[in-house]
Parts: sequence; structure tokens; C-alpha cells
Amino acid sequence: MFHVLSASQFDRKGLEDILNRASEMEKVLAKGGSESCRGKILAALFYEPSTRTRLSFESAMLRLGGSVISETDVTFSSQAKGESLPDTIRVIDKYSDIIAIRSKHKGDAQVAADYSGVPILNGGDGSGEHPTQSLLDLFTISKYFSLDEKIRVTFIGDCKHCRTIHSLSKILRNFDHIEINFVAPEEVQIPEEYLQAGDQKFTEISENILKNSDVIYTQRIQKERFADPVQAEHLAKSFIFDRAKADLMHDRAILMDPLPRINTITFDVDGHDRAKYFEQAMNGVPVRMALIDKAING
Ligand code: NCD
Repeated sequence: MFHVLSASQFDRKGLEDILNRASEMEKVLAKGGSESCRGKILAALFYEPSTRTRLSFESAMLRLGGSVISETDVTFSSQAKGESLPDTIRVIDKYSDIIAIRSKHKGDAQVAADYSGVPILNGGDGSGEHPTQSLLDLFTISKYFSLDEKIRVTFIGDCKHCRTIHSLSKILRNFDHIEINFVAPEEVQIPEEYLQAGDQKFTEISENILKNSDVIYTQRIQKERFADPVQAEHLAKSFIFDRAKADLMHDRAILMDPLPRINTITFDVDGHDRAKYFEQAMNGVPVRMALIDKAING
């Protein structure tokens, strides 16, 4: 069964397959969708806030001719009564053909897969991973760069808690010529488990970083994951990315952010040639169509 649980599960061949399928799905979308999942049901179990991830999963399933059932507020869910995740999954897998899940705890997607009779797509497990986001991030990067080029990718923001950074950094390890920089205050620097020899860590955004990065990926401070809200507040405005910074990026470089942008990119950057974050969000639909179609139809 094809689950999507962690970025670690993909090798280069698997990634190329997803990217090719996503390109095919763009053509399907241009024709108004398909019927390849007709009669199939996606269950969206979202126990943390989400806009893009849930709605692009749902849109993807609807574009494939399938249907969607959703649970979007934990307070209205049996989880609020104390039901265990395995029990929820053992029931929902009888109501659906595929489950997209977002949960509060690292490792929950794997637990769901252990108990599920249908494919599980991890839409974010706490501060763990967000593999479907990293696939759409890779798809976005591949539109601007060959993945065999020497590319420098710089992550700026809360590298400790951001599951998007965790998953994308893992995915990028499949490409020999990609170099990775992490720019974060010490308190939220990238955990050891995601670091590799050759990576560089910085605490400040310098002109040198802005000029020499090919991909800059910003990410908000994840306030909800801090034990101390005062510390989160103190770090929240560490890295504001304004037009002057975007102007320093070179002519082929791209600026990405998984959104929502909260104290990351200022609104005046939106029309900038480097700004690709809305296009990135749009890529969520063809990539998730590719994943759903692969999981259901092979
Ligand atoms: C991210 C997430 O939920 O991890 N959002 C998303 O899925 N596009 C990023 C975030 O919340 O900061």
C-alpha cells in the first residue's frame, strides 16, 4: 500500500515519478479534471489548523472525480472525548478509500498507517514532518532549476519546529549538487537529526546569503509549539523579509514560503519577480492529485 508518511521514504527515482505524475496532473487540470477516482472517498482528518493543505487535498480529490468527507475541528470529534487515534482510524478506513491526516503529535501518521486498511497521507504530524508539502516544494523548485544543477537552498526561520523544513531538507538529500543553509536564531536552529556534513548554519541573514542563494525558503516562528509564549513572541519578528532583501537576490533565484506568512515576507514583495510563494501553494493541487491517484490506482 502506498502511504506518504515521511520524506525519508522517497529515493530519487520515487521523487522523479511523483514529479512526472504531477506534471501530467497539470494537463488533466487544464482539461477540467478527470474521473480516475470516481466512486472513491477521501477522508480528511485535520486535528490542527489548516487552510492550504486540507483544501488542496480536497480539491485534488474532487478534480479526480472522487468525493470527500472531512473532520476539521477536534472539539467536534470523538478524539475530544478521548478516543485513541488507532480506534478512529480503524473506523474511518471503513468509511473511505484514502485518509489525509494532520495531527498534533510527531509520529501520529505512522501510527495511523499501522492501523489503517487504506492509504494514509501525512498532512503534518506536529513538529515532525510534512512530506506532501515538501513534494510540492520540490515540484516548484524543479520548474526553475534542473535538480542536477548546483543549487544553494537557504531555509530562514524556525528550523527547529517547522515540519516543512524538516521534510524538504530530507527530500533535497537525494540530489548530489544541492547545498543547504539554515538561518535561525540559536533557540530554533535545525535539530541535529536533519543536519548533514556540508550544511551551513547562520544566525543572521547576510547580504552574502541573499546574493548567493538560489532558493530562499522562509518560514514563520511556530508560536503554537513553544512551551514559553514569551520566548515565541521575542523571536517572532526575527526575520522580516522585505523588498530590499528580495532585490538582493539574483535574477534566477526564487523566494518560497509554505504560508501562512506571519512576520516573514512583507506584502510589498508580492509583485516581485523573485516571489513564487503563491505559485508554490497552487502546486499543491496537481501534486496531491498525483499522490491520491497513485495511492488509489497505482
Ligand atoms: C505549514 C504547516 O502547517 O506546517 N503550512 C502549510 O501546510 N502550508 C506551515 C506553517 O504552518 O507555518
